[in-house]
Amino acid sequence: MMKKRYLVTAALPYANGPLHIGHLAGAYLPADIYVRYLRLMGKDVVFVCGSDEHGAAITVRARKDGVTPREIVDTYHTILRDTFQKIGIGFDIYHRTSAPLHHETSQDFFRTLLVNGQFDEKESDQYYDETAGQFLADRYITGTCPVCANLDAYGDQCEKCGSTLSPTQLINPRSTLSGATPVLRPTTHWYLKLDEHETWLREWINTGVAGGKQLHDPAAWKNHVIGQCNSWLEQGLQPRAMTRDLEWGVDVPPELPGAKGKKLYVWLDAPIGYISATKQWALDRGVNWELYWKNDDTALIHFIGKDNIVFHCLIFPAILKAHGEFILPVNVPANQFLNLEGNKISTSKNWAVWVHEYVNDLPGREDELRYNMIKNMPEQRDSEFTWKGFQESANTELVNNLAGFIHRVMVLTHKNYTGVVPAFDSSREFKSGWNAEEITTCDAELHRLHEKLDELGAEIERFNFREALRILMEISSAGNALLQFNEPWKAAKDDPELVKVALNLGLQYVAVLSVAMRPFLPFAAARLRQMLNLSPLDDHREWLDTLNDLAEGNPVLRPNHALNAAEHLFSRVPDDVIEAQIAKLQAAAQANQQAAPPSHPLVKETISYDDFAKLDIRTGTIIEAGRVEKADKLLRLTVDLGFEKRTIVSGIALHYQPEDIIGRQVIVLANLAPRTMRGIESQGMILMAEDAKGRLSFVRPEAAWPDGWAVK
Ligand code: MF3
Ligand code: ZN
Repeated sequence: MMKKRYLVTAALPYANGPLHIGHLAGAYLPADIYVRYLRLMGKDVVFVCGSDEHGAAITVRARKDGVTPREIVDTYHTILRDTFQKIGIGFDIYHRTSAPLHHETSQDFFRTLLVNGQFDEKESDQYYDETAGQFLADRYITGTCPVCANLDAYGDQCEKCGSTLSPTQLINPRSTLSGATPVLRPTTHWYLKLDEHETWLREWINTGVAGGKQLHDPAAWKNHVIGQCNSWLEQGLQPRAMTRDLEWGVDVPPELPGAKGKKLYVWLDAPIGYISATKQWALDRGVNWELYWKNDDTALIHFIGKDNIVFHCLIFPAILKAHGEFILPVNVPANQFLNLEGNKISTSKNWAVWVHEYVNDLPGREDELRYNMIKNMPEQRDSEFTWKGFQESANTELVNNLAGFIHRVMVLTHKNYTGVVPAFDSSREFKSGWNAEEITTCDAELHRLHEKLDELGAEIERFNFREALRILMEISSAGNALLQFNEPWKAAKDDPELVKVALNLGLQYVAVLSVAMRPFLPFAAARLRQMLNLSPLDDHREWLDTLNDLAEGNPVLRPNHALNAAEHLFSRVPDDVIEAQIAKLQAAAQANQQAAPPSHPLVKETISYDDFAKLDIRTGTIIEAGRVEKADKLLRLTVDLGFEKRTIVSGIALHYQPEDIIGRQVIVLANLAPRTMRGIESQGMILMAEDAKGRLSFVRPEAAWPDGWAVK
């Protein structure tokens, strides 16, 4: 379902750090491919992005580095903008949420929501850090997850089990600013009545219908996106505060009573950043921004990573609807996550490939990275980047297949026809590159190319970028096979007509590739256009024109067109480059590990003396010790408690040899319910001390002590 006009957004990255390959594969590359394709199809499309410069992500980073939030966002906004440009992400505008236009736009939005009765103003008790003198929302607070007991859950979410939380649900809350235990204080905020939007959102997500209109086809949405939305909807949507007590952010419109010291919630202001970016773009060109946001002929598409699904599929649509004048997204093709060399990409552990470093370390190889990212794009499930895989895909697929094919055709044309596209007899038959058994003619093969190009475009329209890339490479392979089957290098003397038709058609493949490559490999596409002596692609319907030519059986490159010199489009990535990158990755991760002091586990929930008194802890002595079969961590101990002997199975075999610990005094939890391990009933537990590395040590009385007496 093609629309007249497209507005494509890619998640605004937080300006608190540089871009890594996970970001690229998650949101920016798919968006860029899609947009470049639409432009080549002659569509009216605007591609907006910008830096997300508010929220705890920024202020926490600033505090850590001892600088102002302004300095953080200025530094990273520049780095992000330049990195996107270098890796060929072709935004029409890269804006920023600290821009005055954005502040005005978000405040106006807030005013409209207020006038429309979308807010409840409510007072509630929220955590306040008395040391830092600040309320603690969202990421300013950590504690134990009430669902999975993860010790480092945030006030808005547990990243381990994925539960959405509110700060008051955390067990043992702590301020991330000072480490202090926060206190509750009353504060007033504006809550969006999200609960009132639940019914229509459920229908819209699952059927595509809202306000009685069919707005999208739910079958075109990814399953994992709809699944995540439904699991949120099942939990029920709660009113959500759209303001915060913070110093950095967009002010709540100052004329409102109680606005002082309050800022807009970052997940209200950031997506509005898409709107202010569009406004700025339109302003720069003297066009009407409202066509892109308030007109049913426009398709709004959000490219994001899976951690942003709820905000783009439920909360922002509710906000847009609550405002009343805006269209809703027709699709939110979120990707899953990209892992790196067997582990999750982690900024804090410095386990990442940073894109600005990549373009520095491997200059001129932007497309090799793009290619590998697309090939492994986490479209339906998490996927993985490895440096070896990167090298392999560059050297075999780009160098051998794609560049090899193109170079061969070019060289043969130069050799046989001084670089001029040969004319040929159109009735001449030859072997098809798609099937060695098939005899075909140029006309039939041009139709087949049309079919493939059309199919490739359809996959892009369905957000199947991996499959689209596969078809691109299939076209190149078929071109290669065409040469292989017809052997024009042998036929020069006996069958000159075959050479003409094979090379002419080979050149048509190359010309089609120069267009079809553009969304994926924009740098190589530009080099290829130059080699073919064709106009640079100006992103204005060249794909459509090529389709039309092929459909009518017209060649893309006309006979007598003169080519430029043959060059290799890609060069091999040598082993030492890859080894250096692997070493760099490991060195960075190690440096990071050494720099980070071991963190003590947080103190558990407070208990009463009565809770403690339930534990019956005694002194004892190990009198027998042996290994447990097929359990390399367990020892079977006999412990003398003075009044009786106990069998205890203990997980200390990696730390102690049985023969070394006979006669050792220990402390035993004597009233633990018996448990059977490996068929042995364990009648208690030995208390051990554990350090940061997981080493275990017995704890015991300072001096020899009689067995069986209480520890209290
Ligand atoms: N900065 C957010 C993140 O990195 C994404 C914001 S997307 C927007 O997760 F819609 F809010 F702009
Ligand atoms: Zn959890």
